[in-house]
This record gives sequence, structure tokens and C-alpha cells, in this order.
Amino acid sequence: MDSPLGLLVVGILGLYFVCVQGCPLSPNPAGTQDFVPNKTIEDIKTLIAHLNLADNKLVGTVFNMTALDGKLEHEQWLFLNATLDVYLNIFSNMLNEERLEEVNQSLQNLRNKMQELKRHYYSDRIKTKIQKLAAIETTDAVVQKKALNEFQEVFQRASKLGASLHQRACTQS
Ligand SMILES: *[C@@H]1O[C@H](CO)[C@@H](O)[C@H](O)[C@H]1NC(C)=O
Ligand SMILES: *[C@@H]1O[C@H](CO)[C@@H](O)[C@H](O)[C@H]1NC(C)=O
Ligand SMILES: *[C@@H]1O[C@H](CO)[C@@H](O)[C@H](O)[C@H]1NC(C)=O
Ligand SMILES: *[C@@H]1O[C@H](CO)[C@@H](O)[C@H](O)[C@H]1NC(C)=O
Repeated sequence: MDSPLGLLVVGILGLYFVCVQGCPLSPNPAGTQDFVPNKTIEDIKTLIAHLNLADNKLVGTVFNMTALDGKLEHEQWLFLNATLDVYLNIFSNMLNEERLEEVNQSLQNLRNKMQELKRHYYSDRIKTKIQKLAAIETTDAVVQKKALNEFQEVFQRASKLGASLHQRACTQS
């Protein structure tokens, strides 16, 4: 992403991380906290028991989370955002076919947790902001001049954030 729009996207995502991700909802963002509630673990256990999830024919992964290790945070965020939606689709499909009340309930609980997570950290507010950027009238002379006036500030911010994310991704891997 080295186009001006790309830089802006990186900048806005970065701001989003700082403003939304860093707020009181995540008092311990260092990765040491266990974010999966015990109640949710119970639901997963229910599904393991009823749906034969421990079957050793289930080899390999659908989502390879290891592949995200060391990636820049905004890349991970985009990937996880899409991943959450795949899960929500999977839950819809499974709930349509599920007949056992206990399994149905656990599936619904997991889906609700996923939706809650998406609302908190992966809302479409950022998407709307990015769409607004794409709609900026780049042929308009006034827009062009105002943008040039803001160039230094945008460049500074995008470089600073990019460098810091890059450095953190490198030291983590
Ligand atoms: C969740 O389970 C863990 C381990 O089983 C336990 O240590 C912890 O206290 C439980 N947390 C709550 C909120 O019940
Ligand atoms: C997951 O990704 C990692 C890193 O890219 C790779 O080494 C590993 O083989 C992948 N695992 C699977 C099951 O594809
Ligand atoms: C998040 O994922 C949804 C569904 O895949 C997609 O419509 C949306 O554009 C994504 N948000 C961003 C910021 O990419
Ligand atoms: C399972 O959940 C779905 C979606 O909430 C619902 O439409 C369906 O009636 C439920 N089935 C049973 C057997 O409870």
C-alpha cells in the first residue's frame, strides 16, 4: 500500500486502533488476557460432544491463524474482519439445519459472542470513513489545494504510524 489512498487507509486504521481498540474495553491489550469467557468455553465443549468435533478425520485448518503472526496489525485486522463474517455465515447455515435444542442454543451463543465482538472492534464505521475517502473529488481545484496544505501533516502521521507498526511487527516475529 504505497498509493496516497493506501497511506490514508493505513493512517485511519491506525487511528482506529488507537482510538477504539485502546479504550477501556480492552484494559489489557498485551495479549496475556484470556478473552474467551468461561461460558463460551462451555458452549464449545457442548458442540465438541454433540457434533463429533474431535474426529481425527478433521485434519488441517479453515483459517490458518499462524499465518497472521508477524503481519502488520492493520493487515491482521482486515483479515480477521473478513474471517468473522465467514463465521457468521457458517452459524446461519448451521442454525438453519440444527434440530437439537442444546446444540442450537450453543451455536446461537457463539454467534452472539461473535456479533458482539464485531460490533465492538470491527464495526463498519471505519468502512464508511474509507468510502468517504474514495469519494473525495480529486479533480476539484479547491480539494487539490486543501489537500496540498494538509500534505505534511498526513505524510508525517502515516509515516510515523507505518514505522511504528512495522517495527512492532518485526520485534514480535
Ligand atoms: C474461568 O475458569 C478458570 C479455569 O477453569 C477459572 O480459574 C476462573 O476463575 C473462571 N472465571 C470465572 C469468571 O468464572
Ligand atoms: C499456516 O501458516 C504457516 C505460516 O505461513 C505455515 O508455516 C503453515 O504450514 C500453515 N499451516 C497450515 C495447516 O496450512
Ligand atoms: C469487513 O468485512 C465485511 C464483510 O466481509 C466487509 O463488507 C467490510 O468491508 C470489511 N471492512 C473493512 C474495513 O474492510
Ligand atoms: C434453531 O435456531 C434457529 C435460529 O435461531 C431457529 O430458527 C430454529 O427454529 C431453531 N431450531 C430448534 C429446533 O430450536
